[in-house]
Amino acid sequence: MRTQVAIVGAGPAGLLLGQLLHTAGIDNVIVERQNSAYVLGRIRAGVLEQTTLDLLDAAGVGHRAHAEGLPHDGIELLFEGRRHRIDLHALSGGKRVMVYGQTEVTRDLMEAREAAGLLTLYESSDVSLHGIDGTRPEVHFSRNGKREVLQCDFIAGCDGYHGISRQSVPEAALRTFERVYPFGWLGVLTDTPPVCDELIYANTPRGFALCSMRSKTRSRYYLQVPSEAKVDDWSDDAFWSELRLRLDPEARERLVTGPSIEKSIAPLRSFVAEPMRFGRLFLAGDAAHIVPPTGAKGLNLAASDVGFLFDAFTDHYRETSAAGIDHYSQRCLKRVWRAERFSWWFTSLMHRFPETGAFGQKIQEAELGYLVESRAASTSLAENYVGLPTGGPVRSTG
Ligand code: APR
Ligand code: PHB
Repeated sequence: MRTQVAIVGAGPAGLLLGQLLHTAGIDNVIVERQNSAYVLGRIRAGVLEQTTLDLLDAAGVGHRAHAEGLPHDGIELLFEGRRHRIDLHALSGGKRVMVYGQTEVTRDLMEAREAAGLLTLYESSDVSLHGIDGTRPEVHFSRNGKREVLQCDFIAGCDGYHGISRQSVPEAALRTFERVYPFGWLGVLTDTPPVCDELIYANTPRGFALCSMRSKTRSRYYLQVPSEAKVDDWSDDAFWSELRLRLDPEARERLVTGPSIEKSIAPLRSFVAEPMRFGRLFLAGDAAHIVPPTGAKGLNLAASDVGFLFDAFTDHYRETSAAGIDHYSQRCLKRVWRAERFSWWFTSLMHRFPETGAFGQKIQEAELGYLVESRAASTSLAENYVGLPTGGPVRSTG
Protein backbone atom coordinates (compact mmCIF):
# COMPACT_ATOMS: atom_id res chain seq x y z
CA MET A 1 0.00 0.00 0.00
CA ARG A 2 1.27 3.48 -0.78
CA THR A 3 0.05 7.03 -0.06
CA GLN A 4 1.53 10.53 0.08
CA VAL A 5 0.80 11.26 3.75
CA ALA A 6 0.26 8.45 6.26
CA ILE A 7 -1.70 9.74 9.25
CA VAL A 8 -1.51 7.83 12.53
CA GLY A 9 -4.63 8.42 14.66
CA ALA A 10 -8.23 9.31 13.70
CA GLY A 11 -8.89 11.81 16.49
CA PRO A 12 -9.77 15.39 15.54
CA ALA A 13 -6.16 16.20 14.55
CA GLY A 14 -5.73 13.26 12.17
CA LEU A 15 -9.21 13.58 10.65
CA LEU A 16 -8.91 17.35 10.10
CA LEU A 17 -5.51 16.97 8.45
CA GLY A 18 -6.84 14.22 6.20
CA GLN A 19 -9.78 16.35 5.08
CA LEU A 20 -7.65 19.45 4.40
CA LEU A 21 -5.13 17.40 2.40
CA HIS A 22 -7.97 15.86 0.40
CA THR A 23 -9.29 19.32 -0.59
CA ALA A 24 -5.79 20.10 -1.92
CA GLY A 25 -5.59 16.81 -3.85
CA ILE A 26 -2.99 15.25 -1.53
CA ASP A 27 -3.54 11.54 -1.01
CA ASN A 28 -3.68 10.28 2.59
CA VAL A 29 -4.53 7.16 4.59
CA ILE A 30 -5.34 7.08 8.31
CA VAL A 31 -4.23 4.18 10.52
CA GLU A 32 -6.24 4.07 13.78
CA ARG A 33 -6.02 1.64 16.68
CA GLN A 34 -9.68 1.77 17.79
CA ASN A 35 -12.99 1.48 15.95
CA SER A 36 -14.97 4.59 15.02
CA ALA A 37 -17.62 4.10 17.74
CA TYR A 38 -14.90 4.11 20.39
CA VAL A 39 -13.34 7.29 19.00
CA LEU A 40 -16.78 8.96 19.01
CA GLY A 41 -17.58 7.75 22.51
CA ARG A 42 -14.93 9.91 24.16
CA ILE A 43 -16.41 13.08 25.65
CA ARG A 44 -13.90 15.89 25.42
CA ALA A 45 -13.89 19.68 25.37
CA GLY A 46 -16.31 21.94 23.59
CA VAL A 47 -15.03 25.46 22.90
CA LEU A 48 -13.81 26.35 19.39
CA GLU A 49 -11.70 29.39 18.57
CA GLN A 50 -12.43 31.29 15.35
CA THR A 51 -9.21 29.91 13.80
CA THR A 52 -10.42 26.36 14.46
CA LEU A 53 -13.78 27.14 12.83
CA ASP A 54 -11.92 28.66 9.86
CA LEU A 55 -10.00 25.41 9.44
CA LEU A 56 -13.21 23.35 9.63
CA ASP A 57 -14.64 25.63 6.93
CA ALA A 58 -11.50 25.24 4.79
CA ALA A 59 -11.90 21.47 5.13
CA GLY A 60 -15.54 21.81 4.01
CA VAL A 61 -16.99 20.51 7.29
CA GLY A 62 -17.96 23.68 9.18
CA HIS A 63 -21.65 23.92 8.25
CA ARG A 64 -23.09 21.98 11.22
CA ALA A 65 -20.87 23.84 13.69
CA HIS A 66 -22.20 27.14 12.29
CA ALA A 67 -25.81 25.94 12.31
CA GLU A 68 -25.90 24.15 15.66
CA GLY A 69 -22.97 25.62 17.63
CA LEU A 70 -23.62 28.32 20.22
CA PRO A 71 -21.61 31.53 19.69
CA HIS A 72 -20.40 32.88 23.04
CA ASP A 73 -19.41 36.51 23.55
CA GLY A 74 -18.42 36.24 27.19
CA ILE A 75 -17.57 34.02 30.15
CA GLU A 76 -18.37 34.45 33.83
CA LEU A 77 -15.86 34.25 36.66
CA LEU A 78 -17.30 33.31 40.04
CA PHE A 79 -15.32 34.05 43.21
CA GLU A 80 -16.16 35.22 46.72
CA GLY A 81 -19.70 34.01 45.98
CA ARG A 82 -20.34 36.48 43.14
CA ARG A 83 -20.21 36.27 39.35
CA HIS A 84 -18.44 38.77 37.11
CA ARG A 85 -18.73 38.78 33.33
CA ILE A 86 -15.72 39.02 31.03
CA ASP A 87 -16.90 40.50 27.75
CA LEU A 88 -14.71 38.52 25.36
CA HIS A 89 -16.26 40.12 22.29
CA ALA A 90 -15.75 43.74 23.34
CA LEU A 91 -12.30 43.14 24.85
CA SER A 92 -10.89 41.16 21.91
CA GLY A 93 -11.89 43.57 19.17
CA GLY A 94 -14.96 41.64 18.06
CA LYS A 95 -13.91 38.00 18.40
CA ARG A 96 -15.99 35.27 20.00
CA VAL A 97 -15.80 31.52 20.60
CA MET A 98 -18.19 28.78 19.49
CA VAL A 99 -19.46 26.17 21.93
CA TYR A 100 -19.63 22.96 19.86
CA GLY A 101 -18.54 19.58 21.23
CA GLN A 102 -15.38 17.85 20.11
CA THR A 103 -17.49 14.72 19.64
CA GLU A 104 -19.56 16.60 17.04
CA VAL A 105 -16.43 17.95 15.31
CA THR A 106 -15.13 14.38 15.11
CA ARG A 107 -18.46 13.09 13.80
CA ASP A 108 -18.58 15.80 11.07
CA LEU A 109 -15.03 14.97 9.99
CA MET A 110 -15.68 11.21 9.96
CA GLU A 111 -18.82 11.66 7.83
CA ALA A 112 -17.00 13.91 5.36
CA ARG A 113 -14.13 11.41 5.13
CA GLU A 114 -16.50 8.58 4.45
CA ALA A 115 -18.44 10.60 1.85
CA ALA A 116 -15.17 11.41 0.07
CA GLY A 117 -14.30 7.71 0.01
CA LEU A 118 -11.01 8.20 1.86
CA LEU A 119 -9.35 5.25 3.50
CA THR A 120 -9.34 4.94 7.31
CA LEU A 121 -7.87 1.69 8.59
CA TYR A 122 -9.68 1.30 11.93
CA GLU A 123 -8.73 -1.45 14.38
CA SER A 124 -5.09 -1.55 13.31
CA SER A 125 -2.89 -3.01 16.02
CA ASP A 126 0.86 -3.11 16.72
CA VAL A 127 1.44 0.05 14.72
CA SER A 128 5.13 0.86 14.24
CA LEU A 129 6.99 3.53 12.27
CA HIS A 130 10.07 2.82 10.15
CA GLY A 131 12.58 4.90 8.19
CA ILE A 132 11.41 8.22 9.59
CA ASP A 133 14.93 9.67 9.31
CA GLY A 134 15.22 8.64 5.63
CA THR A 135 13.24 9.51 2.50
CA ARG A 136 10.94 6.44 2.38
CA PRO A 137 9.14 6.16 5.69
CA GLU A 138 6.71 3.31 6.35
CA VAL A 139 3.93 2.53 8.79
CA HIS A 140 3.63 -1.15 9.72
CA PHE A 141 0.53 -2.59 11.42
CA SER A 142 -1.64 -5.67 11.80
CA ARG A 143 -5.20 -5.73 10.56
CA ASN A 144 -7.66 -8.60 10.12
CA GLY A 145 -4.89 -10.97 11.19
CA LYS A 146 -2.47 -9.75 8.51
CA ARG A 147 0.71 -7.68 8.80
CA GLU A 148 0.52 -4.65 6.47
CA VAL A 149 2.97 -2.01 5.24
CA LEU A 150 1.93 1.50 4.27
CA GLN A 151 4.65 3.33 2.31
CA CYS A 152 4.49 7.12 2.19
CA ASP A 153 6.36 10.40 1.73
CA PHE A 154 5.56 11.71 5.22
CA ILE A 155 4.01 10.49 8.46
CA ALA A 156 1.73 12.72 10.54
CA GLY A 157 1.76 11.53 14.16
CA CYS A 158 -1.75 12.45 15.33
CA ASP A 159 -2.11 9.58 17.79
CA GLY A 160 -2.51 11.48 21.05
CA TYR A 161 -0.51 11.51 24.24
CA HIS A 162 -0.28 7.69 24.56
CA GLY A 163 0.40 7.07 20.86
CA ILE A 164 3.33 5.41 19.16
CA SER A 165 4.54 8.38 17.11
CA ARG A 166 6.30 10.40 19.81
CA GLN A 167 7.74 7.16 21.22
CA SER A 168 9.28 6.43 17.81
CA VAL A 169 11.58 9.45 17.98
CA PRO A 170 15.01 8.55 19.42
CA GLU A 171 15.13 9.67 23.04
CA ALA A 172 18.17 11.85 22.52
CA ALA A 173 16.39 13.84 19.79
CA LEU A 174 13.44 14.83 21.96
CA ARG A 175 13.15 17.08 24.99
CA THR A 176 10.03 16.94 27.14
CA PHE A 177 8.61 19.39 29.66
CA GLU A 178 5.93 18.36 32.11
CA ARG A 179 3.85 19.47 35.08
CA VAL A 180 1.32 17.14 36.67
CA TYR A 181 -1.34 18.86 38.81
CA PRO A 182 -2.35 17.31 42.13
CA PHE A 183 -6.07 17.06 41.18
CA GLY A 184 -8.42 16.03 38.40
CA TRP A 185 -11.75 17.11 36.90
CA LEU A 186 -14.82 15.02 37.53
CA GLY A 187 -17.12 15.68 34.55
CA VAL A 188 -20.84 15.00 34.21
CA LEU A 189 -22.91 15.23 31.02
CA THR A 190 -26.70 15.60 31.44
CA ASP A 191 -29.75 16.27 29.32
CA THR A 192 -30.72 19.31 31.35
CA PRO A 193 -30.73 22.99 30.30
CA PRO A 194 -27.49 24.79 31.19
CA VAL A 195 -27.61 26.77 34.43
CA CYS A 196 -26.46 29.91 32.60
CA ASP A 197 -26.21 30.80 28.90
CA GLU A 198 -22.50 31.52 29.33
CA LEU A 199 -19.76 29.35 30.85
CA ILE A 200 -19.15 29.85 34.59
CA TYR A 201 -15.60 29.30 35.89
CA ALA A 202 -15.77 29.16 39.71
CA ASN A 203 -13.00 29.63 42.28
CA THR A 204 -14.14 28.54 45.75
CA PRO A 205 -12.41 27.46 48.96
CA ARG A 206 -13.93 23.99 48.25
CA GLY A 207 -12.15 23.86 44.88
CA PHE A 208 -12.83 24.76 41.24
CA ALA A 209 -16.07 24.16 39.35
CA LEU A 210 -17.06 24.75 35.72
CA CYS A 211 -20.54 25.02 34.25
CA SER A 212 -20.43 24.36 30.52
CA MET A 213 -22.82 23.04 27.90
CA ARG A 214 -23.16 21.20 24.62
CA SER A 215 -26.51 22.70 23.53
CA LYS A 216 -29.52 24.49 25.01
CA THR A 217 -30.71 21.18 26.41
CA ARG A 218 -27.46 19.42 27.27
CA SER A 219 -25.07 20.53 30.05
CA ARG A 220 -21.52 19.64 30.96
CA TYR A 221 -20.38 20.32 34.54
CA TYR A 222 -17.02 19.74 36.18
CA LEU A 223 -15.74 19.63 39.77
CA GLN A 224 -12.12 19.72 40.89
CA VAL A 225 -11.49 16.45 42.77
CA PRO A 226 -8.36 14.99 44.39
CA SER A 227 -6.11 12.94 42.07
CA GLU A 228 -7.01 9.74 43.94
CA ALA A 229 -10.78 10.24 43.52
CA LYS A 230 -12.73 7.43 41.80
CA VAL A 231 -15.80 7.93 39.60
CA ASP A 232 -17.63 5.16 41.49
CA ASP A 233 -17.29 7.13 44.70
CA TRP A 234 -19.38 9.94 43.17
CA SER A 235 -23.10 9.27 42.87
CA ASP A 236 -25.09 11.77 40.81
CA ASP A 237 -26.60 13.14 44.04
CA ALA A 238 -23.15 13.66 45.58
CA PHE A 239 -22.05 15.47 42.41
CA TRP A 240 -25.03 17.85 42.37
CA SER A 241 -24.74 18.59 46.11
CA GLU A 242 -21.08 19.48 45.78
CA LEU A 243 -21.66 21.55 42.64
CA ARG A 244 -24.39 23.54 44.44
CA LEU A 245 -21.94 24.34 47.24
CA ARG A 246 -19.53 25.81 44.68
CA LEU A 247 -22.10 28.05 42.96
CA ASP A 248 -23.49 31.50 43.79
CA PRO A 249 -27.03 31.68 45.29
CA GLU A 250 -28.74 32.58 41.99
CA ALA A 251 -27.07 29.79 40.01
CA ARG A 252 -27.72 27.34 42.86
CA GLU A 253 -31.40 28.24 42.64
CA ARG A 254 -31.51 27.90 38.84
CA LEU A 255 -29.53 24.67 38.56
CA VAL A 256 -31.57 21.89 36.97
CA THR A 257 -30.24 18.46 37.85
CA GLY A 258 -30.87 15.10 36.21
CA PRO A 259 -29.30 11.69 35.68
CA SER A 260 -25.77 11.72 34.29
CA ILE A 261 -25.39 10.30 30.79
CA GLU A 262 -21.59 10.26 31.11
CA LYS A 263 -19.35 10.67 34.13
CA SER A 264 -15.55 10.51 34.09
CA ILE A 265 -12.44 11.86 35.76
CA ALA A 266 -9.63 13.49 33.75
CA PRO A 267 -6.22 14.14 35.31
CA LEU A 268 -4.69 17.57 34.67
CA ARG A 269 -1.31 17.84 33.02
CA SER A 270 0.87 20.31 31.13
CA PHE A 271 3.25 18.62 28.67
CA VAL A 272 5.32 19.64 25.65
CA ALA A 273 7.68 17.58 23.48
CA GLU A 274 10.25 19.47 21.40
CA PRO A 275 10.85 19.51 18.49
CA MET A 276 7.60 18.49 16.80
CA ARG A 277 9.35 17.18 13.70
CA PHE A 278 11.89 14.39 13.39
CA GLY A 279 12.94 13.70 9.78
CA ARG A 280 9.75 12.80 7.92
CA LEU A 281 7.63 12.39 11.05
CA PHE A 282 5.54 15.37 12.16
CA LEU A 283 3.80 15.32 15.54
CA ALA A 284 0.49 17.20 15.86
CA GLY A 285 -2.06 17.68 18.66
CA ASP A 286 -1.97 15.69 21.89
CA ALA A 287 0.90 13.55 20.52
CA ALA A 288 3.14 16.59 21.06
CA HIS A 289 1.49 18.56 23.85
CA ILE A 290 -1.15 18.50 26.58
CA VAL A 291 -2.71 21.47 28.35
CA PRO A 292 -4.93 21.38 31.44
CA PRO A 293 -8.51 21.98 30.19
CA THR A 294 -9.09 25.22 32.11
CA GLY A 295 -8.26 27.45 29.12
CA ALA A 296 -10.16 25.25 26.61
CA LYS A 297 -7.07 25.11 24.41
CA GLY A 298 -6.45 21.36 23.76
CA LEU A 299 -8.53 20.92 20.63
CA ASN A 300 -7.71 24.41 19.34
CA LEU A 301 -3.96 23.79 19.57
CA ALA A 302 -4.37 20.48 17.78
CA ALA A 303 -6.22 22.34 15.02
CA SER A 304 -3.60 25.06 14.68
CA ASP A 305 -0.80 22.45 14.42
CA VAL A 306 -2.79 20.82 11.65
CA GLY A 307 -3.17 24.20 9.90
CA PHE A 308 0.62 24.65 9.92
CA LEU A 309 1.20 21.07 8.77
CA PHE A 310 -1.28 21.49 5.95
CA ASP A 311 0.58 24.64 4.84
CA ALA A 312 3.86 22.72 4.94
CA PHE A 313 2.60 19.81 2.84
CA THR A 314 0.83 21.98 0.24
CA ASP A 315 4.00 24.04 -0.23
CA HIS A 316 6.03 20.86 -0.59
CA TYR A 317 3.75 19.22 -3.14
CA ARG A 318 3.29 22.40 -5.16
CA GLU A 319 7.08 22.68 -5.08
CA THR A 320 6.82 26.27 -4.00
CA SER A 321 8.97 26.03 -0.90
CA ALA A 322 10.39 23.76 1.81
CA ALA A 323 10.04 26.54 4.39
CA GLY A 324 6.77 25.17 5.80
CA ILE A 325 8.39 21.81 6.46
CA ASP A 326 11.57 23.34 7.84
CA HIS A 327 9.73 25.76 10.13
CA TYR A 328 6.83 23.53 11.15
CA SER A 329 8.08 22.76 14.64
CA GLN A 330 9.10 26.32 15.39
CA ARG A 331 5.80 27.78 14.12
CA CYS A 332 3.76 25.36 16.21
CA LEU A 333 5.81 25.63 19.37
CA LYS A 334 5.55 29.40 19.55
CA ARG A 335 1.77 29.16 19.76
CA VAL A 336 1.89 25.99 21.87
CA TRP A 337 4.00 27.60 24.59
CA ARG A 338 1.75 30.66 24.72
CA ALA A 339 -1.28 28.43 25.17
CA GLU A 340 0.64 26.36 27.74
CA ARG A 341 1.39 29.56 29.64
CA PHE A 342 -2.24 30.71 29.54
CA SER A 343 -3.62 27.30 30.54
CA TRP A 344 -1.12 26.97 33.41
CA TRP A 345 -1.91 30.49 34.62
CA PHE A 346 -5.70 30.07 34.49
CA THR A 347 -5.44 26.65 36.16
CA SER A 348 -3.22 28.07 38.93
CA LEU A 349 -5.59 30.99 39.50
CA MET A 350 -8.81 28.94 39.67
CA HIS A 351 -7.90 25.76 41.59
CA ARG A 352 -7.20 24.90 45.18
CA PHE A 353 -3.71 23.38 45.55
CA PRO A 354 -2.48 21.46 48.63
CA GLU A 355 -0.41 24.53 49.54
CA THR A 356 -3.10 27.16 48.79
CA GLY A 357 -4.25 27.69 52.39
CA ALA A 358 -6.02 30.82 53.62
CA PHE A 359 -3.28 33.11 52.31
CA GLY A 360 -3.31 31.55 48.85
CA GLN A 361 -7.11 31.80 48.67
CA LYS A 362 -6.94 35.54 49.48
CA ILE A 363 -4.24 36.06 46.84
CA GLN A 364 -6.34 34.26 44.21
CA GLU A 365 -9.37 36.38 45.13
CA ALA A 366 -7.28 39.57 44.98
CA GLU A 367 -6.00 38.61 41.52
CA LEU A 368 -9.53 37.74 40.33
CA GLY A 369 -10.79 41.09 41.68
CA TYR A 370 -8.05 42.88 39.78
CA LEU A 371 -8.77 40.79 36.68
CA VAL A 372 -12.43 41.79 36.49
CA GLU A 373 -11.88 45.46 37.40
CA SER A 374 -8.82 46.22 35.28
CA ARG A 375 -9.49 46.59 31.57
CA ALA A 376 -5.84 45.73 30.87
CA ALA A 377 -6.03 42.49 32.85
CA SER A 378 -9.43 41.42 31.41
CA THR A 379 -8.20 42.24 27.91
CA SER A 380 -5.29 39.87 28.40
CA LEU A 381 -7.63 37.08 29.54
CA ALA A 382 -10.02 37.75 26.64
CA GLU A 383 -7.38 37.76 23.91
CA ASN A 384 -5.91 34.49 25.16
CA TYR A 385 -9.30 32.85 25.62
CA VAL A 386 -10.56 33.65 22.12
CA GLY A 387 -7.22 32.47 20.71
CA LEU A 388 -3.93 34.15 19.97
CA PRO A 389 -3.03 34.84 16.33
CA THR A 390 -1.64 31.89 14.39
CA GLY A 391 1.22 34.05 13.16
CA GLY A 392 0.10 34.09 9.55
CA PRO A 393 -2.93 33.38 7.42
CA VAL A 394 -3.94 29.79 7.03
CA ARG A 395 -3.57 28.91 3.35
CA SER A 396 -6.72 28.64 1.31
CA THR A 397 -6.96 25.62 -0.92
CA GLY A 398 -8.27 27.45 -3.99
N1 APR B 1 -1.83 3.60 16.53
C1 APR B 1 -2.90 4.14 15.90
N2 APR B 1 -3.74 5.00 16.48
C2 APR B 1 -3.49 5.33 17.76
C3 APR B 1 -2.39 4.81 18.49
C4 APR B 1 -1.54 3.90 17.81
N3 APR B 1 -0.48 3.34 18.41
N4 APR B 1 -2.40 5.33 19.72
C5 APR B 1 -3.46 6.14 19.78
N5 APR B 1 -4.13 6.16 18.62
C6 APR B 1 -5.35 6.91 18.27
C7 APR B 1 -6.34 7.01 19.40
O1 APR B 1 -7.18 5.86 19.46
C8 APR B 1 -7.12 8.26 19.03
O2 APR B 1 -8.25 7.99 18.23
O3 APR B 1 -4.99 8.26 18.01
C9 APR B 1 -6.12 9.11 18.24
C10 APR B 1 -5.67 10.36 19.00
O4 APR B 1 -6.76 11.22 19.19
P1 APR B 1 -6.83 12.28 20.40
O5 APR B 1 -6.30 11.67 21.65
O6 APR B 1 -8.22 12.81 20.42
O7 APR B 1 -5.79 13.42 20.00
P2 APR B 1 -5.85 14.63 18.93
O8 APR B 1 -6.47 14.20 17.65
O9 APR B 1 -4.50 15.23 18.95
O10 APR B 1 -6.92 15.64 19.55
C11 APR B 1 -6.58 16.69 20.37
O11 APR B 1 -7.98 18.02 21.83
O12 APR B 1 -9.56 18.49 23.47
C12 APR B 1 -8.31 18.00 23.22
O13 APR B 1 -7.15 16.31 24.40
C13 APR B 1 -8.25 16.60 23.65
O14 APR B 1 -8.54 14.73 22.20
C14 APR B 1 -8.26 15.95 22.27
C15 APR B 1 -7.34 16.80 21.61
C1 PHB C 1 -16.31 21.65 28.16
O1 PHB C 1 -17.42 22.08 27.81
O2 PHB C 1 -16.09 20.44 28.20
C2 PHB C 1 -15.26 22.60 28.55
C3 PHB C 1 -15.45 23.96 28.37
C4 PHB C 1 -14.49 24.86 28.77
C5 PHB C 1 -13.30 24.40 29.31
C6 PHB C 1 -13.09 23.05 29.47
C7 PHB C 1 -14.07 22.13 29.09
O3 PHB C 1 -12.37 25.31 29.71
